[in-house]
Amino acid sequence: MILKRRAELEVMAEAAVINREALEAVEAAIDVGVTTAELNDVAERAIVARGGRPAFKGYNGFPATLCTSVNEAVVHGFPSSRPLEAGDLLSIDIGTFYRGFAADMARTYAIGEVSDEARRLIDATERSLQAGIDAMRAGNRLGDVSAAIQAVVEAAGFWVVREFVGHGIGRAFHEAPNVPNFGRAGTGPVLRPGLVLAIEPMVTVNQTTVDVLDDGWTAVSADGSLAAHVEHTVAITDEGPWVLTAPGSSRANVRATSTTKTAITADGRLDPAGR
Ligand code: MF3
Ligand code: CO
Repeated sequence: MILKRRAELEVMAEAAVINREALEAVEAAIDVGVTTAELNDVAERAIVARGGRPAFKGYNGFPATLCTSVNEAVVHGFPSSRPLEAGDLLSIDIGTFYRGFAADMARTYAIGEVSDEARRLIDATERSLQAGIDAMRAGNRLGDVSAAIQAVVEAAGFWVVREFVGHGIGRAFHEAPNVPNFGRAGTGPVLRPGLVLAIEPMVTVNQTTVDVLDDGWTAVSADGSLAAHVEHTVAITDEGPWVLTAPGSSRANVRATSTTKTAITADGRLDPAGR
């Protein structure tokens, strides 16, 4: 596991702000009748305008800036020319590289009026993410995070997807460790300050497996269950979890509150003049 120093966390926080602002631009464009391909263009323009680079595009051949996963699609759906319809459940996953560091975030949106069950699914998935974040304290174990997520999902009567997991994140989009959304408290590696994790519960209404479509990417629930997916990039610090992708921060704010000399060069190397 790679631990980041403070100056590196601050660059990751800037990457996360760019990523979140791009997702907010997408949110403003979400509507019945809009296509996910149009949302993808909004995201790409917003990331590039802020000096970032879309992290997913070209990653292992993924063709787009966003993953857009509708209804029974769990993750990794392709943006398409299908207009969104009232009642759809849309999961959007977005990733950005900035100065050599990655940020990763996802949310699930109700399009127009959705079923009660769909609303409860989104709510439980968001609460499970928060429970996982709350367990990200130095000295806790990774299994504490996994178990916290699983407990919230199962208390709501829903199912944790097993086939995909969260992950460490930093200079590489996927770093050790894997972060399952199920597991036993008190097990696994001890969490230390400087570890950054992408926590991303994927939840289906019913107990089901997940299939990948012939496009090689789109992961769908095998039984057609509705699915939700939410994600934050979170650093463990001595002061508790730092949700880098949370709303309410800005790049100016990250810089203004910095306690380090800027020690990362524009191309992402550690500046020997910094610390
Ligand atoms: N958040 C997803 C993940 O961590 C997004 C990856 S999509 C890919 O795997 F295209 F980059 F693979
Ligand atoms: Co991720």
